[in-house]
Amino acid sequence: MGPLIWILIVLAACIILALIVYGILCLIEPHRHELTHINLTSSKPSNTGKISLSTGEEVYPVANDPIGKEADLRLFFFSDIHIETCFISSDAICRHIEEEHNIKPFDAVIFGGDIVTWPKYKEKGFAYLRQISSLCRKLDIPFMAVTGNHDIALSDTDVEKECGVELIEGRYKVIRGSGGKEFSICGVDDTGREEREWFDMPECPEGRPVVFVAHDPDAILHTGERLPDFMLSGHTHGGQLYLPFGIRIAPRHKNVFPRAGILKGIFRYRNTTLFISRGLGCGYLPIRSGSVPELSVIEISCS
Ligand SMILES: [Fe+2]
Repeated sequence: MGPLIWILIVLAACIILALIVYGILCLIEPHRHELTHINLTSSKPSNTGKISLSTGEEVYPVANDPIGKEADLRLFFFSDIHIETCFISSDAICRHIEEEHNIKPFDAVIFGGDIVTWPKYKEKGFAYLRQISSLCRKLDIPFMAVTGNHDIALSDTDVEKECGVELIEGRYKVIRGSGGKEFSICGVDDTGREEREWFDMPECPEGRPVVFVAHDPDAILHTGERLPDFMLSGHTHGGQLYLPFGIRIAPRHKNVFPRAGILKGIFRYRNTTLFISRGLGCGYLPIRSGSVPELSVIEISCS
């Protein structure tokens, strides 16, 4: 064989080896997780890094800067369990909640939807959330949730009863933060991808900052007349699969935010500070790359 053939063989071997290593890393990553500390403030960020949406509106990325004072509200937030492809145990979540609560008490624990990918696994998903709700009851922390696009076949009554969680879809709940300030926490239902319907944000009384919880970050584009001060969401899995150099492997997205590359982190949309979690599970295939499963301690401060 000539030298050219040998070069091609070595090149092909290198590509195959790289693909095997990448595949192994994709299978390992869903077993890791990161506890992030997210700081959300109502102050306007500098208008740099503008992202234009297909709606003609603009969104700005926000740095996760320290608040610099005692937070008004402290939350534990997690989203997108997808129990069939979730390798983060409910024990691990409970351990983080307990440890962080001992450092400084939480005002609420919030789940952002997608208990399952397929409804036939609902019992396993319910048991997962039940363990977290038992801990919340023991620690006297309110536990609230919205459901996700994969949960549409689950009955709300079952979710509340079997998981021990309070659904805040279409309603608000008043929470007094440890600093004494009251917040309205509200949410919306998710109707799934096929016959997508968007709901207005529930009406909350004036005078209190509003934290809006919606599985899909695009819900901020459909809140009706009033915008929330803060929003928590998931759904995107942070983009889930990236190649080296941050190149994202993704199907074409119908949604406005993912199409603009808004998939994880903190953003400012009009007067709303929005956090998108990378979530815990994987959806259909048990793989992730460049988007480690995330649990978050969220500290909110109003200026
Ligand atoms: Fe999801």
